[in-house]
Amino acid sequence: DESKVGVKGLVDAGITSIPRIFYQPPENLIDSRSLTRTLDIPVIDLAASDRAIVVRQVQEASSKFGFFQLINHGIPLCRMDDVILSIKAFNELETELKSQYYSREGNEKRVLYYGSSLHLNELEGASWNDTLLVALGPEPAESCYVPEVCRMAVAEWDEEMKKLGGALLGLMSEGLGLKREALEEKLCMDARIMAGNYYPHCPQPDLTLGLKSHTDPSIFTLLLSNHVPGLHVKVEGHEWANLVAHPGALVVNIGDVLQIISNDKYRSVEHRVLANSLQEPRISVAVFFNPANDADTYGPLPEITSLDEPARYRDFDLLELRQQMKKEVGVKSLINNCRI
Ligand code: SIN
Ligand code: FE2
Repeated sequence: DESKVGVKGLVDAGITSIPRIFYQPPENLIDSRSLTRTLDIPVIDLAASDRAIVVRQVQEASSKFGFFQLINHGIPLCRMDDVILSIKAFNELETELKSQYYSREGNEKRVLYYGSSLHLNELEGASWNDTLLVALGPEPAESCYVPEVCRMAVAEWDEEMKKLGGALLGLMSEGLGLKREALEEKLCMDARIMAGNYYPHCPQPDLTLGLKSHTDPSIFTLLLSNHVPGLHVKVEGHEWANLVAHPGALVVNIGDVLQIISNDKYRSVEHRVLANSLQEPRISVAVFFNPANDADTYGPLPEITSLDEPARYRDFDLLELRQQMKKEVGVKSLINNCRI
């Protein structure tokens, strides 16, 4: 089955022009002016001694940009290198080894690998990347499911993500004027999903994208990448710009769930990845924090809505969230589906 080779397989086979299925419709293509524009997202120092200042920075960045970066986050550099290298190693395994994890449906599987051509919807352009998806919760990670070449690094990364994610949620909670534990109690972020993305060199980067424009249907997402650029973010609702993180920093972006429950106080912003024109692959590891209370429904928190600021969204449940997550990126976000 051809699609099992992923885009890396196409590059390895020596293609010099990309298959038509990767062509993007004109409205998705990159406007060259946006390639030279760089977005300076706020840099937040988590080791700063004044918590009130950190809370305010998180609140301002979450409402203005929907993106920020963390420094002094407490995660050792070697852990960051390990997880990037292990995702690289997985993607550079022989096709036969990778394809054990390949699946077209796979939504029930804990580990799922695919080339972008998987989610082909006949009419829409596929993206130039291969992805390994690993469900990290809510059940304890059954580590034997995770491919051996990245098992250890992924498990260690998840430990770091749980700690940092919990700390961040406390800051975000206080940024909404709530007590530190409020969002944690409501959201119980146990359903983490990791995406290990591999963007090989693309011979015709002007015709396609590394990842189509989307918002994340998560609470928030923690993103780590190697030094190969490509992340493109929509600035304050209209213009696209490159987001280049500081070496050693982690990027945070607000997801749809948090935009909805904060009643638009925090913003889930559109982003995409350019097709990689460099020889070296771009590698990124995104951890999506998702709610896990099956019995609960989610909507703008009553504590922050009022007569003056009525709820802008209806409630949704996790069934609806999961259906949203199964859809291809770039289609429609949870935010639009819940708008009143
Ligand atoms: C990346 O920056 O490579 C991934 C972005 C995303 O997951 O949206
Ligand atoms: Fe994303």
